Amino acid sequence: MIRLKRTHNCGDITREDIGKEVILNGWVNDMRKLGNLIFVTLRDRSGFIQIVFDPRVSIQAHNIAKDVRKEYVLAIKGKVKERPEGTINPAYKTGELEVAAIDIEVLNTSKTPPIYVNRDNRTDEDLRLRYRYLDLRRRSMQKNLIQRHKIVQSARAYLNENSFIEVETPILTRSTPEGARDFLVPWRGKPGYCFALPQSPQLFKQLLMIGGLERYYQFARCFRDEDLRADRQLEFTQIDIEMSFVEVEDILSITEGMVKRVFKDVLNKEIDIPLNRLQYSEAMDRYGSDKPDRRYGHELIDLTDVFCNTTFKIFRNTIGSNGVIKALKVENDLAFSRSAIDDLEDAVKEVGAKGLIWMKFENNGVRSPIARFLSAAEIESMKERCSSSNGDILFIVAGDRSIVNTALGMIRGTLISKLPDPEETFDILWVLNFPFVEWDKEENRYKAEHHPFTMPNLEEFKRYKDTDPLKIGSLTYDLVINGVEMGSGSIRINTPQLQREVFELLSIKEREAEKRFGFLLEALEYGAPPHGGVAIGIDRLVMLMTGNRSIRNVTAFPKTKSGFDPLTNAPSKVSEKQLKELHIRIIE
Ligand code: AMO
Repeated sequence: MIRLKRTHNCGDITREDIGKEVILNGWVNDMRKLGNLIFVTLRDRSGFIQIVFDPRVSIQAHNIAKDVRKEYVLAIKGKVKERPEGTINPAYKTGELEVAAIDIEVLNTSKTPPIYVNRDNRTDEDLRLRYRYLDLRRRSMQKNLIQRHKIVQSARAYLNENSFIEVETPILTRSTPEGARDFLVPWRGKPGYCFALPQSPQLFKQLLMIGGLERYYQFARCFRDEDLRADRQLEFTQIDIEMSFVEVEDILSITEGMVKRVFKDVLNKEIDIPLNRLQYSEAMDRYGSDKPDRRYGHELIDLTDVFCNTTFKIFRNTIGSNGVIKALKVENDLAFSRSAIDDLEDAVKEVGAKGLIWMKFENNGVRSPIARFLSAAEIESMKERCSSSNGDILFIVAGDRSIVNTALGMIRGTLISKLPDPEETFDILWVLNFPFVEWDKEENRYKAEHHPFTMPNLEEFKRYKDTDPLKIGSLTYDLVINGVEMGSGSIRINTPQLQREVFELLSIKEREAEKRFGFLLEALEYGAPPHGGVAIGIDRLVMLMTGNRSIRNVTAFPKTKSGFDPLTNAPSKVSEKQLKELHIRIIE
C-alpha cells in the first residue's frame, strides 16, 4: 500500500500551485547536498521538479532523504513554493518552483544503474538494450514513445472518421510473398508442418475486400527475416490499409489526408496536399533512386548529347549502343580522396557499371584519367552543362540507362551522407508506376517488383508480356519521406484469369500457384471487387517525425543491429522436450 498517494504530476506543477500541499510519486533523477539542505530532482513521466529537504521543515523527512540514491522510488509530501532568486533553472518547465518536503516515503530502493538514466550520452546501444527498462526512463526515449502514441492515435482517428474499420488478421498463418524470408513456427498439432508469421497481412486484407468490408485498416505487426539496418527490424508495424471500388487516385488522396492530419496533430506542421509526384522513371533519371531525398538537390546531369561526335571510344560505343553518359557534380569542399573514389568505383561495378570516371576542374584546366581523350570543346561544354567551377569533381558513368542511374544514385547517396542536414525538414512525395517485374539473375526468372498480386498496366501487359515484360508498368505507388521508403501499395488484381497469367509470367507453376495461393485464386472467382491499398511503416514514420536516425529508438523493445534481444536473451535454445514434441531434431 502506498501511504503517500500522488495528487499531482511532477512536470505539471505550475505557479498556480504555489502555497498548495502536494503529494508526488517518482524517481530520484539527481540529488545534491548544500550545507544543511538536501536537493532531490524528482522525475515522473510528466517531467521534473526540485524537492528541498530542510531539517527546519521536517527533521524526519530530512533524515530519510540523507540516504536516498539515484533511481530510488519516492513519495513526497510538501508545499509548492517559488525558488529563491538566482536558483531558477530554465532547463525545466518547473524550474522556477520547488517543493519543500514535509514527509517522505521510500517506495523502493535501486541498485546503481549500469547506464545513465538522467542524461543522454553515448552509452553502448547493446548495453542500453540489455537494460531497456532503465533506458526507457530517459527523457528522449519517453518523448519518442509518447510521440509514437500520438501518431498512432491521430492516424487511427483519421481512419475511423473516414469509415474504415479496424480488423485483426492472423499472426499464425502461411507464407505471403513480400520478398523476405519467412519466420516459421512449427506446431505440435501437425508434426513436420509450419505456420509462417505474416510478412504483411497482404492476402488477408484482399480477402477482407472480397468479404465486403470495403474499407479496412490495421496497425499490423509484420515479421521478415531480412538483413537489419537502421530502418529495418525483424518485426515492425504497418498502418495497413485496403479499400474497395477505388482507383490509384482514391488511395493516394486518403493517404495524403492521413499524412496531413498526423503532421498537423503531432507536430503542428502544415503539409501541402496533394503531394508532389514523380514517375518512377523520372525519379531514377533525375536522382538515380526510387526514393529520392530531394532536399539536397544534386540531380544527375545528362551529358550524352555533349559527346555525340566524340572520338573517345568508351563514350562513342555507349552512344552507339543506345546508352547514356551522365554525371554527378560534387562541390569543392567535399572533395573525395583517391581511396574514397576507388571505393565508389568498386561499388558502382557491383551494380553493373563498367567503371567510374572522375574529372576535376582546376585553375589550369582539368584533371582526369580521360582528359587527354576529350577535345577542349567537349570539356568546355561539359563544364558549362554542369555549371562547374574550379575545384568541383564530376563523377561520370557511361552505359545502359538503368545501370548508369543506379550507379550515380549510389554515389549521390554517399555524397548526401557527407552533407549537413538541410534546413527544410520534410520532403514528402509519391513515386508512381514502378516496373511490374524485374529480372532475378539468381533465380533466372522475372520477379514481381512489388508483390505478385499487383495490377499491371493492362495495355502494356497485353503488349509486352510475351516479348519484353520489363517494359510493363504497374498501378503502384511508394510514399517517400526524406529519402526513406515510408509506404508502398498498389491496385490489386481482382480476376483469377489475370492472377493466373501473372503467376505464369513470374514462373510460378500452376500446381505451385494452386498450392500456395489456391485460396486466393478461389476467392477471386466469387465476385472480388476492384480494390487496392497501401501500407505505411509506422516505425519509420515515427523515426523521421521525431528526428531519429534509427527505428530502434522509437521501438520500445527492438532487437540489436545483429537481430538479438540482449534483455531477454532471445532467440534462445529450447529444451529437448519441446523439440521432441515438435518432432524436430537439431543437426549441429
Ligand atoms: P512493403 O513490403 O513495401 O509493402 O512494406 C510497406 C512498408 O513497411 C515498412 N517496412 C519496414 N519497416 C521496418 N522494418 C522492416 N523490415 C520493414 N519492411 C517494410 C516500410 C515499407 O514502405 N503488403 C504491402 C503493402 C501493400 O501493397 O499494400 C507491403 O507490405 O515503411
